[in-house]
Amino acid sequence: MNIGLAISGLKKTFEQGYALEKRVLDNVDLTLRPGEFISIIGSNGAGKTTLINCIAGVVSVDEGTIHLDGEDITRRKTEVRAKDVARVFQDPKLGTAGHLTIEENLAIAARRGRKNLLRNGVSEEDRAWFTERLASLGLGLESRLQAKVDTLSGGQRQILTLVMATMRQPKLLLLDEHTAALDPKASQLVMDLTEKMVKETHQTTMMITHNMDNAIRYGDRLIMLHDGGIVIDVSGEAKRKLTVNQLVDRFRHVAGDAVISDRTLLAGEVAFAKN
Ligand SMILES: Nc1ncnc2c1ncn2[C@@H]1O[C@H](COP(=O)(O)OP(=O)(O)O)[C@@H](O)[C@H]1O
Ligand SMILES: [Mg+2]
Repeated sequence: MNIGLAISGLKKTFEQGYALEKRVLDNVDLTLRPGEFISIIGSNGAGKTTLINCIAGVVSVDEGTIHLDGEDITRRKTEVRAKDVARVFQDPKLGTAGHLTIEENLAIAARRGRKNLLRNGVSEEDRAWFTERLASLGLGLESRLQAKVDTLSGGQRQILTLVMATMRQPKLLLLDEHTAALDPKASQLVMDLTEKMVKETHQTTMMITHNMDNAIRYGDRLIMLHDGGIVIDVSGEAKRKLTVNQLVDRFRHVAGDAVISDRTLLAGEVAFAKN
């Protein structure tokens, strides 16, 4: 049985023992139930990326434990975790190979973890599966299976990355500002399709976003990281009722005046003013 993600007493300090020592995660506890979709906000440098890097195994933890689906993965190698933990980054170029076609990229994702990824090319069976998978997204990508990924827009490419990341049904999907490099329209489309994919497959997901509006609109639960810890954690009805203004007030309350000029905060206020 899938029992979700459990992070306990997680600590991470960079440059330990040096003048620029920086405690980024200070005793973080966080539990996600299977299928839970949480959005994560916090100012620049709050430790959001470090948190998911610790989960993915890219950054080693100083103290604490990470259990995924009941297994202790705290010290497990990144490559071994990759089967269970999928990631999508801000830069659309990072998740796909531009010089390969859409179907070749999908075939690589489908065979991840096996040797000679493209040795046998793309089979008709694969192709039928990819066509069906892409058609369900309503972007017409299924008729462009032989197009080079370099010819896609940033938004299309990010959606392809999401399809690839979730293809083998990972236990956890980590999204690190995956719409931040896109224009507003593409960003909205990618967010909507992210939600669709996550809901349809009950995919346990952690989504970092700099956009408070999106953090409120998407996901079952919202957490805010500040000063090494989780300072806001809302879900259910309380999250559905939350407004950007209230979130900004709570942010001010916990973070103080120091962050009032923070870009994240301003982005929230601007987004609110437009509504
Ligand atoms: N590999 C690293 N070495 C040293 N400092 C780092 C490293 N990675 C991140 N940091 C520092 O840790 C803090 C948190 O960074 P990060 O997790 O990327 O923040 P966020 O994603 O919330 O903007 C920042 O001050 C950053 O400079
Ligand atoms: Mg970051």
